[in-house]
Amino acid sequence: MLHRPLGQTGLQVSVLGLGTGTRFGDPRNQSRADATRLVRAALDLGVNYIDTAPMYLDAEEILGEALDGVPRERFILATKFFPADEHGAPITPAQLRASVERSRQRLRLDTLDVLQLHGLRPHWLAPVMAALGGELEALQREGKFRFLGASETIVEDPRHAMLPLAAPTGRFAVGLIGYSLLSPWAEVAAIPACVRHGVGVVGMVAVRRALRDPAMLQSLIRQAKERGEAGVVDLPDENPLGWLLDGHTPTLAAAGYRFAIAHPAVATVLAGTLSVDHLKADIAAACAPPMPAEQLARVRKIFLRTDPEKWRPFDL
Ligand SMILES: NC(=O)c1ccc[n+]([C@@H]2O[C@H](COP(=O)([O-])OP(=O)(O)OC[C@H]3O[C@@H](n4cnc5c(N)ncnc54)[C@H](OP(=O)(O)O)[C@@H]3O)[C@@H](O)[C@H]2O)c1
Repeated sequence: MLHRPLGQTGLQVSVLGLGTGTRFGDPRNQSRADATRLVRAALDLGVNYIDTAPMYLDAEEILGEALDGVPRERFILATKFFPADEHGAPITPAQLRASVERSRQRLRLDTLDVLQLHGLRPHWLAPVMAALGGELEALQREGKFRFLGASETIVEDPRHAMLPLAAPTGRFAVGLIGYSLLSPWAEVAAIPACVRHGVGVVGMVAVRRALRDPAMLQSLIRQAKERGEAGVVDLPDENPLGWLLDGHTPTLAAAGYRFAIAHPAVATVLAGTLSVDHLKADIAAACAPPMPAEQLARVRKIFLRTDPEKWRPFDL
């Protein structure tokens, strides 16, 4: 496993991390025993960064069970709290504290390594930090969590406007960013601000659905062509991204993780898999030699000409 520094946290993170989003947290998708097997296999394979959230159904509780008894230094646990109510107003300091306490309890951890504001809309930043900044400092001082992070909302912030606002405040050590070969806009819009301000970058949604479902990919590209989207117009209708496959990239899922980790500022890329076999393949892709420069250039030539408001491969 390769490791990279996570911004200025002093943490060394595995280039592939485990994402435990809603699919992981939904008990209909896997048994507790399978979830534990997946988490233990990930650790054995060298994965040391695990992302979760209270909003991911039972994910925190499942992880708490799976990580019980695992030496604490073997993993870095990042969770979140949702910073606003249903009207978009900041939650109260008491609600923040309750969320953190619940996460600590469900995860069976004294200290959360990374606590992220979940799906922070750009216009929430100022009011949320005004309302919760003091309590966040108190919780950090009390040792409830080590580093503060912010995660984007891939649905409502397709232009990645939040982290360029959050990074310069100096309050955030980690940014969780949507970054995919199908939508590499973050490398222009958000990652440079993170680098400038020492914010560690964690990549998410590198594969999502479009890179594991050929019919979905073809349909997305067909619709984009019909809209006259620049960039994608020259892609073939059949197997439009077949040119990305090679000895190190047997599938488009592998291409997704390999592309995301090719960016030197991305410390770790989350894989939201439920399958140990897929996880092994994803690690192999992330640890393979960097994606060739010609492929990176071609990806950028195509997908950096899309319109991020209309071309939305993440929304699936
Ligand atoms: N706003 C936020 O804070 C936010 C938003 C979204 C996501 N996240 C975090 O980011 C994590 C990653 O996002 P994600 O789960 O959407 O992303 P992802 O890793 O881009 O995609 C996961 C999908 O790819 C499939 N997959 C993985 N490896 C594969 C392989 N080798 N071959 C075929 N299919 C493969 C998985 O299916 P299998 O199970 O079959 O492998 C799953 O359907 C989440 O789990 C969550 O922790 C945070």
